[in-house]
Amino acid sequence: MKTLLKNPAQIVTVSTGGKNHKRGKELNEISVLENHSLIFEDDTIKDLIPNNSVKNRSDYKIIDVKDKIILPGLVECHTHTAFAGSRAEEFRLKLAGKSYEELAKLGGGINTTVTSVRNSSFDELVQLISPRINYFIVQGITSLEIKSGYGLDFENEIKLLRVIQHLQKIFPITIVPTFLGAHTIPNEMKKKRELYIEEIIQRMLPFLAENSLAKFCDGFCESTAFSADEIDLIFSQAKSIGLALKLHTEQFNSIGGLDVALKQQAVSVDHLEVIKDDDILKVAQSDSVAVLLPGVSFFLNYDYAPARKLIDANAIVALSTDYNPGSSNIADINFIMSLAALKMQMTIEETISAVTINAAKALLLSEEVGSLEIGKKADFAVFDAEDYSDIVYHIGKNLNGMTIKNGEVIYQNKNG
Ligand code: NIG
Ligand code: FE
Repeated sequence: MKTLLKNPAQIVTVSTGGKNHKRGKELNEISVLENHSLIFEDDTIKDLIPNNSVKNRSDYKIIDVKDKIILPGLVECHTHTAFAGSRAEEFRLKLAGKSYEELAKLGGGINTTVTSVRNSSFDELVQLISPRINYFIVQGITSLEIKSGYGLDFENEIKLLRVIQHLQKIFPITIVPTFLGAHTIPNEMKKKRELYIEEIIQRMLPFLAENSLAKFCDGFCESTAFSADEIDLIFSQAKSIGLALKLHTEQFNSIGGLDVALKQQAVSVDHLEVIKDDDILKVAQSDSVAVLLPGVSFFLNYDYAPARKLIDANAIVALSTDYNPGSSNIADINFIMSLAALKMQMTIEETISAVTINAAKALLLSEEVGSLEIGKKADFAVFDAEDYSDIVYHIGKNLNGMTIKNGEVIYQNKNG
């Protein structure tokens, strides 16, 4: 059955002419169609046609989107949604002057959440995480990455990945699982770090690959977490068993993570708040997506990643919330877009490319989603706005009124 998304004010196609990502200047070109409607059949986009040729379509199912703005379903490409517990107490300490790194060194930070996750059952985790996924769906997000990384031993990392696998089955959106066993050294292994790394390499990675529990292997290259050499070892094993790679790097310190990630052809390099000027060029000349996380800079009150320099150097830039309890307790993608515009000098158009096609590229999904082109999946976010710029202009306000995934309406607001 064919469906007509009829008469929207604008269709923001983010089309790429088959390239499936946007680099440098291309991020600013989002291709806005007016006086057009969109046709999809089952889960696939079939056509974008001028409104004056939308006659005699009585055999079509009609969804009236008059005065609304259609975007590709949004893609959230970096989240730690699978957590338990609260870090409000640490937030209080941070407000009183303690830094994120100091808290990590004292055995708090990520390890605080690890304790909460280890004390939570499978069912409790499903209960905690489910409303967070719904919150993303309400915002028009149709593809969502979720990392493990708060179990940090065999049993609990696998428990988290199994929870994510279960959520993949019960939610209608695409959920991409990422293994982040190399998030930090768990407190009980602080004096035996080699043993923990061996556990990741010899036990966790082979098990999760055999059981198809993750698409990506991620790590945190940082003085409070893993060295570049340690990440290199872990990545070599992950790659050899078929996982794609991502890396948290150049967040607080530049200790060689970026070079390892680029050498290992990581699909994305994430954070980059302290990236050096020479390294900007290296990223720009690679196919790795620079995933920028301005919510972390806002939440921890430190420098923003040099988005402008990266885009001007021709990099593929994406944006994400980095939703997590310690460094970005922010699950609102519209707020992240506004922050990127206000604090990182990105244009409104660039922020849209960064949460659609480039975020899809960061999840190796951009051949199917992230732009509205014939043959791609019928994934849409339908905004109640006069112009697409309203999405970024109304700060922290969700204007999405309808979410469509694989051709099915999976969320509609009451006024919609
Ligand atoms: O992306 N950088 C490391 N990981 C997360 C923070 C996780 C946490 O503090 O719980 C991040 O910022
Ligand atoms: Fe992160």
